[in-house]
Amino acid sequence: MRPRRWTGLIRRWGRYLPVSARTPVVTLDEGNTDLVPAPALAAELDLGRARAEVWLKIEGQNPTGSFKDRGMTLAVSKAAEEGSRAVLCASTGNTSASAAAYAARAGMKCVVLLPKGSIALGKLAQALVHGATALAVEGNFDDALDMARQAAERFPITLVNSVNPYRLQGQKTGAFEVVEQLGGAPDLHCIPVGNAGNISAYWMGYREAKEHGLSRTLPRMLGFQAAGAAPLVRGHRVANPKTVATAIKIGNPASWDLAVAALKESRGRVEAVTDAAILKAYLLLTRREGVFCEPASAASVAGLLRLSREGWLRRAAAGRGRGVVRIVCVLTGHGLKDPDRAIALSPKPKVIRPDLASLAKALRW
Ligand code: F0G
Repeated sequence: MRPRRWTGLIRRWGRYLPVSARTPVVTLDEGNTDLVPAPALAAELDLGRARAEVWLKIEGQNPTGSFKDRGMTLAVSKAAEEGSRAVLCASTGNTSASAAAYAARAGMKCVVLLPKGSIALGKLAQALVHGATALAVEGNFDDALDMARQAAERFPITLVNSVNPYRLQGQKTGAFEVVEQLGGAPDLHCIPVGNAGNISAYWMGYREAKEHGLSRTLPRMLGFQAAGAAPLVRGHRVANPKTVATAIKIGNPASWDLAVAALKESRGRVEAVTDAAILKAYLLLTRREGVFCEPASAASVAGLLRLSREGWLRRAAAGRGRGVVRIVCVLTGHGLKDPDRAIALSPKPKVIRPDLASLAKALRW
């Protein structure tokens, strides 16, 4: 029998991507992540007479634990095709982890600019262990991205932030997979928004899926930002963004215009969610669905719960009668990226002596 295994998203979706036979494919077999039902979350939602079917796109299953690998396989492959020897990015953590891993795979140098003190531990470990040169910038992500853009103009190094168009091209494959997994597009697509690349990429993917005849419909795009870092919601830059969801602690998103277009064209919405709501959603996912994502990812679920509470979902579902409304939430990164947050939100293990009496006492049996 011919072996059949998943060999990454460029090989699977190459006909819809800007690659040719000459492109050296740099891959860690990213993509093909599971779409897992979320019945406990669905039961929390109020859609009037309609019924919610909620699905979680588990992007933490990618090789470096986040959706960034979808864009990075393409960005680094194209950099290699163009003869580049080094890549550069600014990052709240996940992009740097992914860039470092794909650069290692390609035999390239990697430089990452990280806002000092704002990177979750797991992500920092990844960038370092894959051999990237990590520099802690005394500033926020927006400052670091400005620097990275200037540096890429001046020095012979390829910028692999999502302003590199290949990044969004790779990330659009997430939408192709959802369409394939559901047999069509969902009604609503919930996603956290930071630099606003991913919401733009998914919308491009859904539109192309429709053009290519893979789906007949388009979803409404629902983007969620942390309340302390919500420039798209407020309509202006945020100079000093603040949130526990460090991945989306961004005040001046690079893909602002694309995201606004996606929201408008899809009759979508962008909303802010508080840190408390993000952490509540995070615990709902971990404790009731058994799914461990990082705090930024839980913003998509916090936002969905907010729209339910405000009656928006009910109104959106009004035309459905007793039908089903299909909702996808993208869980963009793995929970292990930010172990400090997981531990801070959980009770400490009690220390006991190694005997049954101590166990019984601890458990109050
Ligand atoms: N979720 C996670 C886990 C992220 O790491 C990011 C962005 C987002 C959501 C937001 O996606 O920026 O496309 O709107 N992380 C970037 C980084 C900024 O540097 O890793 P976006």
